[in-house]
This record gives sequence, C-alpha cells and structure tokens, in this order.
Amino acid sequence: MGVTSVTDGTTGSQASATAVSLPALTIGPYALDLPVVQAALSGYSDWPMRHLARRMGAPYTICEVMLDHFVTSLRDRARTRRFLMLTDDDHPAAAQLMGADPAAFPAAARRLVDAGFDVIDINFGCPVKKVLGRCRGGYHLGQPDVAMEIMHRVRDAVPPSVPVTVKMRRGIDLSAESRDRFDRILEGAFDAGIDAVTVHARTVQQRYAGRADWEFLKQLRDNWPQHTILGSGDLHTAGDCVRMIRQTGVSGVTAARGSIGNPWIYQQCRALLAGRPLPPPPSVHEQRDVMRLHFACILQVYPQKLACGRMRRFSLRYADWHPQREQVRKDFIAVRSQDDWMHVMKRWYDTDQPGRYPSEPAERHSGAGTDAGEQACRSSDADSGP
Ligand SMILES: Cc1cc2nc3c(=O)[nH]c(=O)nc-3n(C[C@H](O)[C@H](O)[C@H](O)COP(=O)(O)O)c2cc1C
Repeated sequence: MGVTSVTDGTTGSQASATAVSLPALTIGPYALDLPVVQAALSGYSDWPMRHLARRMGAPYTICEVMLDHFVTSLRDRARTRRFLMLTDDDHPAAAQLMGADPAAFPAAARRLVDAGFDVIDINFGCPVKKVLGRCRGGYHLGQPDVAMEIMHRVRDAVPPSVPVTVKMRRGIDLSAESRDRFDRILEGAFDAGIDAVTVHARTVQQRYAGRADWEFLKQLRDNWPQHTILGSGDLHTAGDCVRMIRQTGVSGVTAARGSIGNPWIYQQCRALLAGRPLPPPPSVHEQRDVMRLHFACILQVYPQKLACGRMRRFSLRYADWHPQREQVRKDFIAVRSQDDWMHVMKRWYDTDQPGRYPSEPAERHSGAGTDAGEQACRSSDADSGP
C-alpha cells in the first residue's frame, strides 16, 4: 500500500512541512492518489460540479443524495441524463441513495450500477426534519436493525466488484444509547462487507451547529485501524483537510462546504500533502476559465430556465476569490439570465489580476451551510432528494 506524505497545512503560504506518512486512501478496488474527495452535497454535487472537481484534481466524487424510488422511476431522457450523467473522465464516482424501506434499495442500487456508477453510498446522515419524519437518512441511526438490513440488501444487490459505502453522523444525539447504536451500525457495516464509512462528526440533532468533534473521529480510527474511515465536518479550507487527516488519522476526508466554488481545494491539498506551501490563489483569469467551464457543463444537463439559477448559486461562492468580492457578489445576486451572467463576467473577469484567498471561513460560508444547506436539501430538485 502506498503512503502519502502529510504536512500541517495552515492558512496562507506559511504552511509548515511536518511530514507524516499515512496509508493511501482505498475504497474497495480503487486506490486514490489523494485522501481528499468531493463530498455528497445536495443542491451542489451534480454532474457539473463533480466533473469539474475531477478535472481539477479530485480523485473521487459522490453525487447529491437521491431517493430510492426516484432512481427506479427515472424514465424521462433529459432528467435521466441530468441525474445519472457520467463521462469517461468522471470515474470513480459514487451515487448516494436514501430511503426508508430496506426492500426498496436493491432495485435502485442496481439501476445506479447499470448507469455506470462505480460505488453505491448509503445515506444514514441527513438531518433535515422532513427526511427524519419520513424515516430516512439520519433516522436510521436510531434503528440499527433496519440500518443493517439496508446495508446487507444493497451489498447483496450489486456485484461484489462494486464497493458499497455508508455516510453517517456520529449518532442521533450525544446520549450513551445513541453511541451504542452508532457502534452497532458501524460494526455491522464492516461485518456486512461495507468498504468505507464516512462520518460527519456531528449528531443528527446538532445539524450544523457547533464544531464537529474531530476527537470522535480519532477514537474511531484508533478502534477500527484496519477499515477505511473518512472524516467530515468543518473542512473549510485545504489546510483544514490536511489538519483533520493529521490530527485524527482518518483514511481520508470529504470536502463539502469547503469545495463549493472552490475546485482548487484539491490542488491545494496536493501541494500541502507534498510538503509544499499553498499555491497562490487562482488569478482572475484562472477563475474566469473555471467558471466558464462550470457554466458550460451546467448547460449540458440543465434546461435553460434552471441553468442560470444553478450557476448563480456557485458564482456567489466563486466571487470569494475575487479581489473585489463585495461588488462582484452584489452583481451576481442580481443575475436573472445567461446574458446577465455574461455581462457580470465581462465587467469583473475580463481584466486579469491576482486572486485572493477568502479571508475567513465564515465569509465563505455565509451563503451555504446550515440553514442554506438544509434549504438546499429541502427544496432543490425536491423530487430527487429528501
Ligand atoms: C448544502 C449541503 C448539502 C448536503 N448534502 C448532502 C448529501 O446529499 N449527502 C450527504 O451525505 N451529506 C450531505 N451534506 C453533508 C456534507 O457532505 C458534510 O458531511 C457536512 O457539510 C459537514 O462537512 P463541512 O462542515 O466540511 O461542510 C450536505 C451538506 C450541505 C451543507
């Protein structure tokens, strides 16, 4: 097994180079060359975001969550393309499934494999009220027997060569009973042949409040050293990703909110992991080129009337890298059409100049995170998601 050199990537260019050797991240047969992957993000990690992430150095990506019955009922050509699109450059890619009834998972999992997805990920983490009310997502953390039945059914439904993975939170709440159930599900997952588990180190009850408990991830790593465990929670920058790996020893991390409007995070992690300082922030022309590509990908799979709103959502986050962030954001907020978008691009991105690292994580997350994140979960493509 290869080793990855890990350094303590702090912010800015002053990253120190304290190298630590870690096993490379593997998910079933896939040996990934970077232990930082694109997280599942409802309302964001659609094909355009994932395709771009792969082109920008992500070794592996996970789709927005999809409901089991949504997957099995997908017929319409344009929508099938939008939700199940994969190109040769996108592999390995995971599709994430969510549902209530264990019996509904196998057909959906097989459909996703037939569509070309390399890994099936099961969602036991979503904390949105409506999702919990329908006994989906994080609800399963409170019922280990059902969770285990889902894992077994999915594992049995897809070919042995297709890894099955699980996304969890650290429990329903902080009670001892919840911890006991979490442990039972984790142990059951590994017994069932689940290839990797991603743990968001907050409880379902916490949603996005407070800090993710990285110490919890370290304990998991110490208790299950032979299994692939990915960490999630509060990874706002490349430095955070590297710090989580170093502090907790997890096999890898999933870049979530920190990857929105920031496909550069993978290159930045690569630099830090190789003991180099953070690269300079992308110049305005580099930003422009990535944004144009992102919009072109969006236009390939979304109808025109949805495409502009989708790109605006990302553009507000891309603007964080622009030296005139405030004015650029203001202009993007007013965008209503593709022409408007191109006009803003011409105004702010035609002249090249050095970019800037977003100064505070809070600044980057003013637009997507807790409430906005859940809003995305609740409303975006409501038919596909929770
Ligand atoms: C807008 C938004 C959508 C999300 N959608 C999903 C999802 O579809 N599936 C999933 O497993 N986790 C989802 N998550 C959780 C993230 O993958 C991640 O675990 C969480 O945001 C914590 O990481 P962070 O603090 O680094 O953002 C979502 C989070 C946000 C903010």
